[in-house]
Amino acid sequence: MKAFVCNEFGPVDSHNIEEVDDPVAGPGQVVVDIKATGISFPDVLIVQGLYQFKPPFPFSPGGEIAGVVSSIGEGVSKIKEGDRVMGSVGSGGLCEKGAYFESQLMPLPETMDFKTAAGFPLNYGTTYHALKQRGELQPNQTLLVLGAGGGLGITAIHVGKAMGAKVIAAVSSQDKLDLCMKEGADEGILYSRDMDRDLQKKFSDQIKEITGGGVDMIYDLVGGDYAEPSLRAMARHGKYLVIGFTAGIPKMPLNLTLLKECQIIGVFWGQFAGLNSDVNAQNFKELFDLHAKGEIKPFVTKSYSLNETAKAIKTLEDRNVLGKVVVSME
Ligand SMILES: NC(=O)c1ccc[n+]([C@@H]2O[C@H](COP(=O)([O-])OP(=O)(O)OC[C@H]3O[C@@H](n4cnc5c(N)ncnc54)[C@H](OP(=O)(O)O)[C@@H]3O)[C@@H](O)[C@H]2O)c1
Repeated sequence: MKAFVCNEFGPVDSHNIEEVDDPVAGPGQVVVDIKATGISFPDVLIVQGLYQFKPPFPFSPGGEIAGVVSSIGEGVSKIKEGDRVMGSVGSGGLCEKGAYFESQLMPLPETMDFKTAAGFPLNYGTTYHALKQRGELQPNQTLLVLGAGGGLGITAIHVGKAMGAKVIAAVSSQDKLDLCMKEGADEGILYSRDMDRDLQKKFSDQIKEITGGGVDMIYDLVGGDYAEPSLRAMARHGKYLVIGFTAGIPKMPLNLTLLKECQIIGVFWGQFAGLNSDVNAQNFKELFDLHAKGEIKPFVTKSYSLNETAKAIKTLEDRNVLGKVVVSME
């Protein structure tokens, strides 16, 4: 079979498609004929050795997949051959077939196609956990989403709106802002790709102006120079959700939490999904219900072939991605 293979850490475009042996299902595993694989920012990091998790070589990146089960290993009890499945698998999804543990997969609802499903579990799973369990977002609260035009950001608009919040999308380009408004954001802020002190102050003032004094919740997947001005625009008793650091890991003045009596809250969906699998399963049941009722409408902006994998990952690295991109094996 064909696979996008990382034999050693290096730049995204230093990795290639190779012919490798078909996988075999070990105990507790099933082999999936992969139809599509979602591309996420961890793919940018993992092939360069910059991610928190470093798989042994050789490996394929690709953390979320959708496909059809073609064989099952010893001890598999719930999944059978021919089942349509989707899942967040960490890595090993950018290939034509993969062997995964049964516990990493879930049934793919009839209402969802393979490409949409491939972009669903990591982003919606993270956002739902963040806004529900970590943030306890309430109807009519204001929710600021930084980097709102990318994969995870769009899901924060969708879920935030479904939970009744007023969503403010903050992004670095007009095309990203247009997409966010189309996807349901109530307000938008265009920030600069490079921030200095004056631009940070301007960004903070814009948030305060739109929210009438301060924002209730911040969903921050960007960090870097965008974090402190956002925290400065936090409302009293607000919640700052730490999701990711595409612009770098920020240092925050803790005195701001005292002045605003606000909370900075970490979100680590992968760990939560492993340690609290029952709650995570209930989250997905609720997400699939929201999808069936049309209250969240996941979509794929662009689909690439397996041969174009490096190009697909580069769009995220180059900060050019709009919404969600996937690699399709069909
Ligand atoms: N905590 C968790 O459990 C969890 C789960 C999944 C993902 N994550 C993290 O969430 C983050 C977002 O993932 P994603 O898949 O949504 O990524 P994405 O689709 O590439 O979106 C990331 C956004 O970050 C912004 N950005 C700012 N500076 C950037 C830079 N130097 N390079 C690239 N993008 C930059 C971009 O928006 P603007 O240009 O508009 O600023 C971009 O749209 C990643 O850090 C990922 O590791 C965390």
